[in-house]
Amino acid sequence: MSFQNRLKSFVLRRGRITSNQSRALSEHWDRYILDNEEKLNNIWSQDPSVLDIGFGSGETTAYLAKTKPEMLILGAEVYLSGIGSLLIKANEESLNNIKILNSDIVPFLENKVSDNCFDIILMFYPDPWPKRKHHKRRLLQKDFIDLINKKLKLNGTFYFKTDWIHYFDETKKLLINNPNWRVLQKENLEEYLVNLPRTSFENKALQAKRKLNELILQKTC
Ligand SMILES: C[S@@+](CC[C@H](N)C(=O)[O-])C[C@H]1O[C@@H](n2cnc3c(N)ncnc32)[C@H](O)[C@@H]1O
Repeated sequence: MSFQNRLKSFVLRRGRITSNQSRALSEHWDRYILDNEEKLNNIWSQDPSVLDIGFGSGETTAYLAKTKPEMLILGAEVYLSGIGSLLIKANEESLNNIKILNSDIVPFLENKVSDNCFDIILMFYPDPWPKRKHHKRRLLQKDFIDLINKKLKLNGTFYFKTDWIHYFDETKKLLINNPNWRVLQKENLEEYLVNLPRTSFENKALQAKRKLNELILQKTC
């Protein structure tokens, strides 16, 4: 399926934005948000880079930026409330190595990013679209997995977590025994990736007593 015919993986609703988020959005937007070509062109350098797709409230993005100041951490999120939350954290911690994309990650990866670009791509608790008729809205489908493979550097890491077993099983089928990927064990990861903070959606899943599942893969070709 071509991306043009693909249904979006999100439905934008006017979510509630707190006054703190709103203030952070107006005060720190220019510093962190990639909202024009010039800002986008200026971020690529030799620094190792991480992409956090659908960062929600940005717990992982902020933690990585603080723990790995030598890395560029790029976060993508369509909801302004989540971006506001990450901007609050980024400002409080004076994080200089975060950049934020406020748009759909699919056309961004397809059209704006060179191949073999990221060291690590994270996708934690993507919207599960649990009803069968909505499965086609899930981000992780064959075409998107191929796109992620293209944008990772050779030997780069793709780290996926979900609490929806059907989503996990379907994704596993696409990735395991796929010659482009090799499964990694958590022990193979560097410590900072093993000790990631719990995200908001991870906490919700735990409260609802859903099992957390994860897959870690290395791009082999
Ligand atoms: C269930 S939340 C998980 C958030 C976070 N990773 C966590 O673990 O708490 C999924 C997030 O992905 C974002 N999202 C969904 N589709 C997206 C897309 N195509 N591009 C960018 N963000 C997207 C949604 O807005 C939502 O905040």
